[in-house]
Amino acid sequence: MKDTLKTATLTLNGQTYELPVLSPTAGPDVIDIRKLYAQAGVFTYDPGFTSTASCDSTITFIDGDKGELLHRGYPIDQLAEKSHYLEVCYLLLYGELPTAAQLEDFETRVTRHTMVHEQMQNFFRGFRRDAHPMAIIVGVVGAMSAFYHDSTDINDPWQREVASIRMIAKMPTICAWAYKYSIGQPFVYPRNDLDYASNFLRMCFAVPAEEYEVNPILARAMDRIFTLHADHEQNASTSTVRLASSSGANPFACIAAGIACLWGPAHGGANQACLEMLREIGTVDRIPEYIERAKDKNDPFRLMGFGHRVYKNFDPRAKVMKQSADEVLELLGIEDNPTLQVAKELEKQALSDPYFIEKKLFPNVDFYSGIILEAMGFPTSMFTPIFALSRTVGWISQWKEQLSDPAHKIGRPRQLYLGETRRDYVDIENR
Ligand code: CMC
Repeated sequence: MKDTLKTATLTLNGQTYELPVLSPTAGPDVIDIRKLYAQAGVFTYDPGFTSTASCDSTITFIDGDKGELLHRGYPIDQLAEKSHYLEVCYLLLYGELPTAAQLEDFETRVTRHTMVHEQMQNFFRGFRRDAHPMAIIVGVVGAMSAFYHDSTDINDPWQREVASIRMIAKMPTICAWAYKYSIGQPFVYPRNDLDYASNFLRMCFAVPAEEYEVNPILARAMDRIFTLHADHEQNASTSTVRLASSSGANPFACIAAGIACLWGPAHGGANQACLEMLREIGTVDRIPEYIERAKDKNDPFRLMGFGHRVYKNFDPRAKVMKQSADEVLELLGIEDNPTLQVAKELEKQALSDPYFIEKKLFPNVDFYSGIILEAMGFPTSMFTPIFALSRTVGWISQWKEQLSDPAHKIGRPRQLYLGETRRDYVDIENR
């Protein structure tokens, strides 16, 4: 943050206040209102945080007008093409791309933590078989604080580091087991000779009765999905993690809070909702009907996988995802996939419709991801868990960053109160 000595002037009730303006390394300037209430006795009002920077960060930068996403300065398309998920995890966590030796050490550390406490199996078995995997995952991750007492002290940097590695390492096992439980198959233990994505695919799809060969093309596509979802600045779930953490809560509780927030259809739940919508549309001739519904103010229906709070141009992740969907379906020999046909035609028609053009609504990351995941064999209920798995490193990186700032304080927004003012209690017989 550069000290530019710029100020903004606020005039209120005849008084003038000079507010410092902070200049970022990229993005718009930020008016510092931290002392506003103490000086002027007023709050600011911004319920959806549309104009509010809730923290400073060095991890991820988004230019919504350009459609640019950078992790520690590196563009997401370069990372998706040239890097891989665990390297991106290292980058997000530690700030720089690793050397070969650093990467090997990091991969070994993650691999050595992939098993979950055996007793946690009982916890999984307590859920109904038809529970949504997200319901299981949010519960199991929260319960990790009851199993890993030696990494819950947030004031100890070593414990913070161990908790970070544990979360990244165990999420694939937890997500795969939530899936296995829901389909009544035995839990498959992690295998340390496999890479991160292959290990996850095997834990989801292997059965004890036969050998399971991981398809390297699918493993690469899986890894790319993880990479594209790894972090996304101060989105709703990340802000939830930061707010939970601001009270000093343990890391597992904070990540469980983030998972709960991600589940909603306006956020991570959109990938499931999007594929269900594409299936419901079914054939290209029905697309105009759905576009009309999305435009109708009296109909709550929205085109899932479309629109974004920050991107007012193409979501750069959606571009890579679309290309990946084409590749995966071609390699699997299912190019005439009807859902992909509907998706492509829907994108084309929406992008040439004045409503979507004026409101700058473009496909987001969730528009094509479901098509790839379905082709891999995942049911829709696993789409959001896969998002949660991928985003864990983002949540953890932001959590670590927040805790390493000695000036961090509890998050405590204020409100615009519109309720009754003080009034006296009325006895029940007089109401
Ligand atoms: N279909 C139809 N109209 C839409 C859509 C859509 N998908 N998205 C936004 N609009 C309209 C909306 O009705 C509003 O119109 P008006 O100004 O006339 O009232 C305008 O566009 C602005 O929408 P908003 O709800 O004020 O924008 P927001 O920034 O608060 O919401 C969003 C962003 C992502 C929640 C929203 O675009 C949406 O609900 N999209 C569908 C769900 C989705 O795909 N979510 C995944 C987001 S990306 C991954 C992630 O974050 O997890």
